[in-house]
Amino acid sequence: MKGPVIALAAFSAVANVLMLVSPIYMTQVYDRILPTRSFETLAALSLIALVALAVLGLVETVRQTLARKLAARYELAVMPRLIAADDDGALGIEPQVAAKAQTVKRFLASSAFINLFDLPFLPLFLGLMFLAHPLLGWATAAGMVLLVVVTLLNEWGSRRAGEAMARAQALAARTGQDALGAREDVRAMGMGRAMAARWTQHALAAADAGESAGRVNARFYGLTRFVRQGLQTAVLGLGAFLVIHGDMAASLIFAASIVSARALMPIEQVVGAWKAIAEARRAVRDVRQALALVTRAEAGRTRIDLPVPAGHLAAKGLRYAAGNSADAPVLVDDLSFSVQPGQIAAVIGPSGSGKSTLLRLLSGALAPSSGEVRLDRFKLSDWPSVQRGRALGYMAQQTMLFEGTVAQNIARFDATATDASIIAAAERAQAHDFIATLPQGYNTPIGPGGVRLSGGQVQRIALARALHTEPAVLVLDEPNAHLDSTGEEALICTLADQRAKGRAVVVATHRTSLLAIADSVYLMEGGRLRPLPMQAKPVPGRGQVLPLAGNGVPTTAA
Ligand SMILES: Nc1ncnc2c1ncn2[C@@H]1O[C@H](COP(=O)(O)OP(=O)(O)O)[C@@H](O)[C@H]1O
Ligand SMILES: [Mg+2]
Repeated sequence: MKGPVIALAAFSAVANVLMLVSPIYMTQVYDRILPTRSFETLAALSLIALVALAVLGLVETVRQTLARKLAARYELAVMPRLIAADDDGALGIEPQVAAKAQTVKRFLASSAFINLFDLPFLPLFLGLMFLAHPLLGWATAAGMVLLVVVTLLNEWGSRRAGEAMARAQALAARTGQDALGAREDVRAMGMGRAMAARWTQHALAAADAGESAGRVNARFYGLTRFVRQGLQTAVLGLGAFLVIHGDMAASLIFAASIVSARALMPIEQVVGAWKAIAEARRAVRDVRQALALVTRAEAGRTRIDLPVPAGHLAAKGLRYAAGNSADAPVLVDDLSFSVQPGQIAAVIGPSGSGKSTLLRLLSGALAPSSGEVRLDRFKLSDWPSVQRGRALGYMAQQTMLFEGTVAQNIARFDATATDASIIAAAERAQAHDFIATLPQGYNTPIGPGGVRLSGGQVQRIALARALHTEPAVLVLDEPNAHLDSTGEEALICTLADQRAKGRAVVVATHRTSLLAIADSVYLMEGGRLRPLPMQAKPVPGRGQVLPLAGNGVPTTAA
């Protein structure tokens, strides 16, 4: 990162010095050529000036290129670390930080960033003005102060309206996106006009706020232009006055005017881009904080590879509160649980009781507030993330597939996975047959622009993904939610097969069908778990929704 910044500073120095070509040329024309009427000198001087200006143009191109390069480098340095951070257990990184990194990237590639490098040369131009004559120096300095004051007043006067506009614009954009994104729901329920009215309401509010912000801006825009052009004229007039009084050489009048304009330019640009600069600064700070978390997590990476686990999964005193405040809701409360290799444990309970939260904790997707989950005697956090990931197959309730092909999704994007292992996983998850019917089989792209899969198809591919590494422990959250009875039978076969292979399985479900093969059944209620005695195990009725009595205990009606 340092290299391009230093290069940018160096090229900026050259550019700023070359800015003096025009004023110097002008004074030379006045001082040497007009008195001597030498055509050769004029030609030579003009040639030199043209070459210097060509170099200046080149330098400006290089500055732009360097800024773009820096922006690309920033993104490449930051994004992979943020995305991979979870592997090192860096917790507390908000997903919005990716957007923040994009803000920084955009800013680095913008002219506002390049203009910052012109600021240090401001004293050079101001000094030259003082050198020409102190009065001209003071006039320019006053113009600078005036410009800053005018811009700050503008900022201050339009801030509230500007913020209101940004808020309303965000709401309008969100409403538009939601309505267009969920077209089918809107169409089916005839919500189009109502959504359009809602959008219009936000858009009108944004336009209103924009109007008052714009009025302030327009006023100050005029004032800014007046200050700049007024100063330029004042410098000319003042120069003429000084020349008449014999205090300054006539050749300096126009040169001084150019240099004073040059001195004001970066101020005007930087102050004009102030909002973008402030936003970029905040974004830089947020990204830095996230990266500090990553660095700390990376430094704590003393975890060594452990023996391949047999699949003893045990939770002790497990507690999870959503948030850090004292009154944060406790979703899982002082819970103990264990499952052994070759066992299927089912977790049932009313919705909202904390089943999914428990399964997230057991799989390592969430870190507990207190208590621990151990895999073969070692805490989940002591396992190297890659090894733990391979030892665990997890399927979330709202499972997600990623942009890529079916095969890549099943292989967990492991480039070293063999075709045979991918097909074996799909066969074990009973997904092979339906994958054969997809337009390009295993190479069918899914995700944006790809093929649309049904809920049950997504679940089967997600199950294949969970099984791909032949994990010792399977954690499945309502894996039958979108399956028909045939799919459910297939799932039961898969689970029985996994048990026979000595795998430990934890499955959350609200249907009785899966309970038939469970070795133990637990009831989750209000964040607490208790084992159900096996004789009270509900009689399985395939595909049937588990009837729950008022207290959430399943009745044994078939
Ligand atoms: N990140 C979260 N922050 C706050 N509350 C949450 C969060 N995740 C889940 N909950 C709440 O925790 C409770 C348990 O949710 P969940 O574990 O999904 O239950 P289940 O899977 O049994 O339906 C619900 O009331 C849910 O609204
Ligand atoms: Mg759930």
